Amino acid sequence: MANKFVTTPIYYINDVPHLGHAYTSIAADVWARFQRNKGEKVFFLTGTDEHGAKVAQAAEKNGKEPKEFADEISDKFESLTKDLNLSNDAFIRTTDTNHEKYVADFLQDLYDKKFIYKKSYEGLYCVGCEKYLTEKELVDGKCPDHDKTPEKQCEENWFFRLSDFKDKIEKLIDSDEIEVLPKERKNEILGKIRQGLDDVSISRKSVEWGIKVPWDETQTVYVWIDALLNYLSATQIFDKKDFWPPSVHIVGRDIMWFHAVIWPAILLAAGYDLPKKIFVHGYFTVDGKKMSKTVGNVIDPVQLVEKYGADVVRYYVLRDFPFGEDGDVSIEKLEGRLNGDLAGGLGNLAQRVLSLVKQNSLELSTSGVNLSAKGKEINKLTEEFKFQQALIEIWKLIADANQEIAKAEPWKLAKEGKKEEVKSFLQSQLSKVLEIADLVTPYLPETAEEIKKQAKSLDLKPIFEKTN
Ligand code: MSP
Repeated sequence: MANKFVTTPIYYINDVPHLGHAYTSIAADVWARFQRNKGEKVFFLTGTDEHGAKVAQAAEKNGKEPKEFADEISDKFESLTKDLNLSNDAFIRTTDTNHEKYVADFLQDLYDKKFIYKKSYEGLYCVGCEKYLTEKELVDGKCPDHDKTPEKQCEENWFFRLSDFKDKIEKLIDSDEIEVLPKERKNEILGKIRQGLDDVSISRKSVEWGIKVPWDETQTVYVWIDALLNYLSATQIFDKKDFWPPSVHIVGRDIMWFHAVIWPAILLAAGYDLPKKIFVHGYFTVDGKKMSKTVGNVIDPVQLVEKYGADVVRYYVLRDFPFGEDGDVSIEKLEGRLNGDLAGGLGNLAQRVLSLVKQNSLELSTSGVNLSAKGKEINKLTEEFKFQQALIEIWKLIADANQEIAKAEPWKLAKEGKKEEVKSFLQSQLSKVLEIADLVTPYLPETAEEIKKQAKSLDLKPIFEKTN
């Protein structure tokens, strides 16, 4: 048994959650559940990122004090963890006093170790990204993700000596000691590192809503440094120190640089073990544009769950395109998956097999799922974050089982009085249904439970409702 530490990014609370946020969390949850089912000890962490200019501006716009605003929106993210049926072990907030103190102490240590110095800086700041952008990154003078012109900022700030770590980080990623997945992302980040690393500012003079720099109270800690440290502070706050280092950080591609470059450098400077893996996923797009509040094309995950149920949403977001790539999402596509794969495929198979068992008054075994070779292969896909492929393979098993039933026509055998044949055929089909339930457990936890329950009780009802 090994300790597995899996994290989602902590979410900005400048606005309520959208489906893009739910995506990272669902993926992390599938992996966490998979590991637990395998018998590993898991610490699955998520939470909210609450300081900085972006949040302060949003609070002001809403006529609220930042903390009051943060409490309100953070609650929505926390309640989304319940809606999506996430199995997170902890939910961290960067405004927790324990976290704030941890960050201050951590930075003081880096300062004492001479990794931090003061310098003037001028740059183009995108509040949406909470980072400086280079001219090269702009499209028509604007941030391509937020479609906004960045602000020119000139400040004297505290800087971290990121440039000292260039060769080390390059080697760590190149050798997969820090494994950046998928491979294309690894190549992308190596290419960027090879262009050189500049030191990075770790404080802000102009931002009040933040943790005070302990040796200079005129500045607050840069929100990204504050946020990254959640992964460490949480292991202390929630008494999980033996879970360090993280097995995997799951992040969207917009925040790969922070996780694959700045974060390991900070950990190296402070003398901590490094995360083993960083899995970088793509964006949800709507008609080709990244889903975001700023663009105004968001889908509300809470409404989706209310209407279709958590499992349908969980299935849809991981089934439609490979985890790692971008993909266009829509309600029509979700309904297509519900009616086809879920109600028509899995729901139909379970229903058919269980009602045949019931009609024939058979007493069959429902215990001890033995994974087939195929089942083991599928689990390997889940372990490697190939969620779409795993689901495709599971649904091939479903289609095969449905076909076998159509071909064997057990209802005919029953009419002909071939009781033993019916019994052995249905036992094998029931075992298949139970294996499938086992394989879908991390993805569709409620559905898997329901199938197992109905198999035992033979108190049957439809598992999915089709839409019209
Ligand atoms: N607060 C930072 C993360 C700090 S972690 C130490 C942040 N927050 S975020 O709320 O903007 O984004 C959180 C996650 O949601 C990221 O992984 C991001 O990629 C993901 N998504 C936000 N919009 C998304 C889509 N449209 N599609 C897929 N994922 C997206 O960044």
